[in-house]
Amino acid sequence: MKVEDKIRQMQEKKLDILQGGGQERIQKQHAANKLTARERISKLLDKDSFAEIDAFVEHRCVDFGMQNTVANGDGVVTGYGTIDGRLVFIYAQDFTVIGGSLGEMHAKKICKVLDMAMKMGAPVICINDSGGARIQEGIDALGGYGEIFLRNTKASGVIPQISAIMGPCAGGAVYSPAITDFIFMVKNTSKMFVTGPQVVKAVTGEDVSAEELGGAQTHSTKSGVAHFMAENEEECLQQIRRLISFLPSNNLEETYKVECNDDLNRLSPRLNTIIPDNPNKPYDMKNVITEVVDNNDFFEIHSRFAENIIVGFARFNGISTGIIANQPLSMAGCLDINASDKAARFIRFCDAFNIPIVTFTDVPGYLPGVSQEYGGIIRHGAKLLYAYSQATVPKVNIITRKAYGGAYIAMSSKHLGADLVFAWPTAEIAVMGPEGAANIIFKKEIEASDDPINTRQQKIEEYKDKFSNPYKAASRGFVDDIIEPMATRPRIINALEILSSKRETMPPKKHGNMPV
Ligand code: HXC
Repeated sequence: MKVEDKIRQMQEKKLDILQGGGQERIQKQHAANKLTARERISKLLDKDSFAEIDAFVEHRCVDFGMQNTVANGDGVVTGYGTIDGRLVFIYAQDFTVIGGSLGEMHAKKICKVLDMAMKMGAPVICINDSGGARIQEGIDALGGYGEIFLRNTKASGVIPQISAIMGPCAGGAVYSPAITDFIFMVKNTSKMFVTGPQVVKAVTGEDVSAEELGGAQTHSTKSGVAHFMAENEEECLQQIRRLISFLPSNNLEETYKVECNDDLNRLSPRLNTIIPDNPNKPYDMKNVITEVVDNNDFFEIHSRFAENIIVGFARFNGISTGIIANQPLSMAGCLDINASDKAARFIRFCDAFNIPIVTFTDVPGYLPGVSQEYGGIIRHGAKLLYAYSQATVPKVNIITRKAYGGAYIAMSSKHLGADLVFAWPTAEIAVMGPEGAANIIFKKEIEASDDPINTRQQKIEEYKDKFSNPYKAASRGFVDDIIEPMATRPRIINALEILSSKRETMPPKKHGNMPV
């Protein structure tokens, strides 16, 4: 064969591979409001930056007629490219090729990309759209999943791992995304479950649709499995680009910083009036966050799950920062099982990737209740304490209002190693709220009084004067300074600057035993 024929042959082969499972299946994919694997990659990455690898990989299965089945790319497109000029690795399962099902070689392609991402220290983005283990390949397919789980685990805390679910993701296949750091889902087209609706019906008798059982809405509100829900695939891919813009490429990168064009000394007069006079009235903590961060730009994560705590990324003087904040608008901002899980996992991500943590505290306590106790608020709540205590990145805390009891300790208190704790004059740092406290410690006086209602009120005021303020805590050094709310942004920026040279190490050990 002449050289030019060899080149033409290669071009024809490539063109054929680019067709995936063929026009008919591509049309079916589009009709289901889904893009193809290659369309997703080209919309996600910078224009023309994608370099594909392993396009010529073929399966080796000869069972159940597979010897006659051509599977372009073995059902997964893999390679690397850039987002905003920064290197990322990527794989996208191709549902048009044997339903994106995972066989031996499909898994090997994914493992190669994960290995390369680890070696190069770059984030990996995993786009899932698959019928699961390729049934014809049996144990080879199952083994492939295991190899992926192992790599996801080894890569955890080394490079950011992002999963997008853009079709079915069922059975054990869900556990690769679950090990990764962030999961994106798309309304109506994404599905994640360990056992599908038919199996659920057969085993428990429950009638549930696939969407209800494992759709984007379910996982971003009820289970908390998904961190993001998009209206459509385009929006999802844009959200991934935005998330990447806040993340360092790996755990060895120093604090991730971009240029800041917001005023570093900007004051926020509206914060001086944001706390209501009545301490039982809520306010929106998101307004506090957006007011103080660079360009008022806050990227919230897990926005629909455990809304009583807010987590997300923002920047101060261009430094990527993890924000954790109680939200008085939801359940008065108290801590419960889901809030503890949500915040603890986020703190650990930030700590693993050298992202400083800024906390905004307004917490009345832990949510009381039988279901919380039976659900294990003790072990779940312990995760939050553990995560804050273990994090060695710079930790700054702003106590805006309530900081009561155990929840005061849990929310990045000085006692758990916060580097700088600032309180607004509206802060109330005490064992419990004045009403509860007065009822207990002045019980006898109130009962013996001729006018119990009045006496009770007097005792509440007495307690408030003494403890419902930041001065007791500041007198012990548990609060470093009491600041005017409007000066919050400059104080945080200054704090992060002086903490940028922070060096703190934990005692040498294989690893701790975090409560789970
Ligand atoms: C082989 C598969 C497949 C699979 C789909 N296909 N899933 N081939 N192994 N797991 C093929 C179909 O035969 C079909 O081929 C093509 O992909 C498209 O599938 P359709 O059924 O036509 O598509 P749709 O109607 O959209 O339904 C999608 C689906 C359904 C819901 C995913 O295909 C399905 O239920 N698949 C089986 C799911 C499953 O049970 N997987 C194993 C889970 S166990 P043709 O040639 O007709 O186009 C598992 C264990 C993991 O994953 C353990 C890890 C530890």
